[in-house]
Amino acid sequence: MLVTREVVLQQDIGLNGTLFGGDMMARMDKASGILAGLLSSNRRFATLKVSELRFHSPVRAGDIVEFHGNLARQGNTSMTLALEVQVYNPVSNARKEVTSGEFVMVAVDDGGRPEPVLWKPDMVAAAGPA
Ligand SMILES: CC(C)(COP(=O)(O)OP(=O)(O)OC[C@H]1O[C@@H](n2cnc3c(N)ncnc32)[C@H](O)[C@@H]1OP(=O)(O)O)[C@@H](O)C(=O)NCCC(=O)NCCS
Repeated sequence: MLVTREVVLQQDIGLNGTLFGGDMMARMDKASGILAGLLSSNRRFATLKVSELRFHSPVRAGDIVEFHGNLARQGNTSMTLALEVQVYNPVSNARKEVTSGEFVMVAVDDGGRPEPVLWKPDMVAAAGPA
């Protein structure tokens, strides 16, 4: 499911003339936090693990980036989210995959300890594996 969209500005561009990889990772981490919030009624999540992060194609200033996410694994206190970032071209209406990765998000209480995820079944159904 589409989680969020952002635009890349000139100020986000690194030495190669393309989006700095760490910037993309931060954006994906935030999108994972949003998706975790959409799928549950928990107040807080912490990122436990990031894996299989792959930068397929460069992202440039002016690009509109879309963050799509699926629920890859439904745990007790955790969820594994498969994130796919696409650049969307509104002129051609085309999308291109630029980055992908898996994020393990853990629901935590006010003390930062893991707590059970309070799932929203309708959202889980919408965000199940593609
Ligand atoms: C997230 C955190 C609260 C989890 O606490 P923990 O005691 O390490 O984790 P637990 O052993 O209780 O496991 C919690 C969940 O994570 C899962 N998990 C633990 N290690 C895992 C791993 N290597 N891969 C996948 N899942 C893992 C467990 O299976 C469990 O999920 P489940 O209940 O759905 O089965 C703790 O690790 C933490 O605070 N980490 C730092 C988070 C952070 O600051 N993130 C920002 C990065 S700067």
